[in-house]
Amino acid sequence: MDDYDGPDEVVRQLRPDIPVTCFRPAALESAARWFLTNFPGKVLYAVKANPAPYVLSGLHAAGITHFDAASVPEIQLVHSLCPGAHIAFMHPVKSRHAIEQAYFDFGIRDFSFDSMEELEKIVACTGKSKDLGLMLRLAVPNTASELPLSGKFGCPPEKAVAILKAARKLAARIGICFHVGSQTMDPQAYVAALAIVGTILRAMPRTKVDVIDIGGGFPSVYPDMAPPALADYKTAIDAGLDALPHPERYDFWCEPGRALVAESASVVVQVELRKDDVLYINDGTYGSLFDAGHMGFRYPVRLIRPTPGGTDAALKGFRFYGPTCDSIDYMPGPFFLPEDVREGDYIEIGQLGAYGNTMRTDFNGFSAHEVVSVKTPPLVTLYDDALETTDPKELCVA
Ligand SMILES: Cc1ncc(COP(=O)(O)O)c(C=O)c1O
Repeated sequence: MDDYDGPDEVVRQLRPDIPVTCFRPAALESAARWFLTNFPGKVLYAVKANPAPYVLSGLHAAGITHFDAASVPEIQLVHSLCPGAHIAFMHPVKSRHAIEQAYFDFGIRDFSFDSMEELEKIVACTGKSKDLGLMLRLAVPNTASELPLSGKFGCPPEKAVAILKAARKLAARIGICFHVGSQTMDPQAYVAALAIVGTILRAMPRTKVDVIDIGGGFPSVYPDMAPPALADYKTAIDAGLDALPHPERYDFWCEPGRALVAESASVVVQVELRKDDVLYINDGTYGSLFDAGHMGFRYPVRLIRPTPGGTDAALKGFRFYGPTCDSIDYMPGPFFLPEDVREGDYIEIGQLGAYGNTMRTDFNGFSAHEVVSVKTPPLVTLYDDALETTDPKELCVA
């Protein structure tokens, strides 16, 4: 990967006509450091957020040695890039073949499940082995989340005691895991979910539970979604864990995806055409901007002129269309940029280290993109106490 000072140098030297991902190793390290310092247990990186080899190796080098994988290819990738890593298969619904491969080919012992049927499948596919770690995915409210995940998975709390007691007889260790939903804006969501876990633990005092896994959901910062400081999440989670019966008995896990990697990459795109307040750019919802279209996410943006000079023009809200012929390749924004933005200009779009390139398809032949490494800080950061603004326009750096 080639190194540059920053995205401006990338533009001036390469004049790229394909999207360029600007990877920031320093931002990845800061995020890893925060979680390793502040979470009182094991930090499992949720690989789905960004499985790029340079991200996995970067996190491993920064001290992340535990990984949450959702598929055999993710397990394979971590296995090959991060020697000695502990990998947990945390997808609550898996094919029988995937369970067999994970257990027998990759030595995976920890599996999540959210039903008796899946529990029986895991046990059958691993030869009723006695060395399993079985983590029950509990349904918890996702109401503070911008991207709720509660529709698809989760065992209702009223069924949890019976399933955990069944799992206890079959496994070397059992656990309770949950996900409060991605981009959770209120730290109290973790407290509320842990209170449900506490109720379950109190209802089965003689059943030993080994692991409490609070999942992912930690936020990043976007123009219209500036969450409380990460320190507030730590305070809330510490209190929630302390309120569990006998908190000293459990191994605590968390599974951050977005918050560990969002700031570690931005994408530089080029404007191919302007029509009033619409910019046709060379990346879109089939590329790294899935969430900008389908979820209406607004990302921090910054104009980069290919020639020196810049602009003093006032900011104006723009909408984007991506490069494919499909009209759902549309990102409503608004993305605030100088009002004189024109064809040939470049735009740096921030916070795309999470759920960015990982969503890229080759629909319409537009999969080409480049990755470089840069030294400049991310457009915005949560890993810095100086972040005080929640004004959308201030997060759109011109
Ligand atoms: C089981 C599991 N853990 C962790 C994550 C990561 O979530 P986030 O990126 O919100 O931290 C996800 C996201 O879908 C998930 O499904």
